[in-house]
Parts: sequence; C-alpha cells; structure tokens
Amino acid sequence: MKKYEVIEEILGSALTAPSRGEKGLAFAPVNIALCKYWGKRDAELNLPMTSSLSVALPDRGALTRIAFHDQSFDTVTLNDQLLAADSLFVKRLSEFLDAFRLRADWHLSVHIKMNVPVAAGLASSACSFASLVLAMKDLFSWTLSFRELSILARMGSGSAARSFWNGFVEWHAGLQANGMDSYAEHLAVEWPGLQMGILPINLGEKPLSSRQAMQQTIASCALYESWPKKAAHDLALLKQAIHSQNFHLLGGTAESNALTMHATMLSSWPPICYFSPETLIAMRKIWDLRQQGLSLYFTQDTGPDLKLLFMENDKETVQTHFPELDSIKLFES
Ligand code: PMV
Repeated sequence: MKKYEVIEEILGSALTAPSRGEKGLAFAPVNIALCKYWGKRDAELNLPMTSSLSVALPDRGALTRIAFHDQSFDTVTLNDQLLAADSLFVKRLSEFLDAFRLRADWHLSVHIKMNVPVAAGLASSACSFASLVLAMKDLFSWTLSFRELSILARMGSGSAARSFWNGFVEWHAGLQANGMDSYAEHLAVEWPGLQMGILPINLGEKPLSSRQAMQQTIASCALYESWPKKAAHDLALLKQAIHSQNFHLLGGTAESNALTMHATMLSSWPPICYFSPETLIAMRKIWDLRQQGLSLYFTQDTGPDLKLLFMENDKETVQTHFPELDSIKLFES
C-alpha cells in the first residue's frame, strides 16, 4: 500500500510508538483554487496531473477536535450532528485514518465544526482533512514541517494540501512516483483590498463528488489533453498577476481557468454539468457588468455557486448588484 509507505517515511517511529496527548484541536481555512487541480496521475496518493494555485478564505473553514475513545470504530460529529457510520464523509475520514494505524490500534471521536456549507463545491473536504491532520499532529505530538503536513493531508483530499495557510498557496504537482515532491507552499505576498464573495446559488449537497467528476472527465473527455498546457500557462499568469498586483490579469485568468475546467466536464460522457440556470444568469450578469466597466470576475468549483473576485473599492457596487453576496476580505490590511 503506497499510502502507508509514504506515511511511514514521514512519521517513522512516531507511527509505531505514538506519544499520546489528551486531545487534538486545530483549525484549517477553506481554500479556493484560482488555477484548479483537475485530474490525478495517481488516485491512491492523490497526485495531480498539474500544479495549482489557491487563495484562502481566512476565518472560514473547519475546526476539528479529536480524542481517543474505547470504541472499535471512529465516530464523526459534524456541526453537532453525529454522522451515520456508512455516510460517505465518515467512510473517507475513517479510511484515511486506517493508513495511520496499521501498526497500532486506536480509534477516534472526531468533532468538526464548519462555518461553510458542506460538500457544496466550497472546498469543505479540503479544510476538514487539513484540520484533521493538524489535530493529529497535536494529539500525537508529531514534529512535522508544513511540507510534510501538506503531503499527509493531500492523501485525504487532494486540495487539502493547500489548506494550511491564509493567502496565496501553490501546490507543486511534483514528478516522483511516491509524491514526496507533491506538496503545497505559501506564497509570501499580501494583496490588501482583494476580496472574494460567495454567491450562494444552490448550496445543497452536490450530485457528483469532485473525485468522481475528475475520473469521469479523464476517462472520456477528448479535450482533457489540452488541460495540462492551459493549467501551466494560467499558473504562470496568476503568479505574474500576484507579484505585480494586476487585478484584471488575476481575475481574467482565474475565470478562464474555471470555465476551461467546466468545459472538460461538459464534453465528458456522460456529461457533467455543475451549472444551474441561476449560475448562468449570474455569469451573464457579471459579463454585462464587466462590459459596463466594473472590475468583477468569478470562479466556480464542483457546485453551482460562484465565487466573485473584486477589489474592496468596488464592494458596494458589487453588493448592490448581488445583495445575497457573502463578501470576505482575503488579506488583513
Ligand atoms: O480535493 P478535491 O478532490 O475535493 O478536488 C477539488 C477540485 C476543485 O475544487 C474543483 C479544484 C481545486 O483545485 O480545488
């Protein structure tokens, strides 16, 4: 099992003789990709085909508390509700934990508080897995670098590799078969005034997970061939935009990247479509407003809601056009 080998390489003796604290507690923020992770070169290790780049939503994410318990299975409580043992989320979390306990028998009660909608394309799995890894670090007193934490979280959910920092984060795809060079890194650049707004369109549970949608796209989409080139190009443009604080370059590149990802899904068979009629209405409205001179762009993940990108000085205007928008300052100052 490749996953276990990676865990053993990172944790070494800490895995066989875990030093146990009373409990572990940690928070990890949501991250929204501006250049998307779309497609895996290794499904077990969640190794991506391409590098990606995200920005975090500070203070939005998952707070995870874990403790050992006497039961022979893990329990997961999400926002004060005990989840059914056969729910997809519990199975994924528990399978992830299995890889850490091949040599020691323990089970956890996991309590997650999330202040974003769960599994609605808002990267809730990313912040859950990142906060779980941080809580385990706390519980087992692991001494690990962010690079190692990022590698561990990636094996739970790919995009979780990017959920350890506020601000901009780049996840290097890496080349190695064991993924030791596939980890995320914080970009030490602030962009005061940059904002993201969550436009809630239909925040119910999504019909198809990102994992399934990726697999289906790779298996059947002829356009996917052009994705790695597009992603590499967009990543370079986004880094240029961030370093020169060029908002139009940032917004335009992020929007085009998201639309290209969705184009690969639409051209898969059977087709995958995360747009609802309201998504398209909102997109057209954004394009019209942009034609009229408003600096407003969007990105979209595997759900119908949009995330709008704009600068603080346009916030009032944007909010007038989208009163339901939940605007978030991406940087402190
Ligand atoms: O990490 P996953 O399996 O939830 O996939 C995330 C996929 C996207 O959100 C669509 C893109 C991304 O880079 O976050």
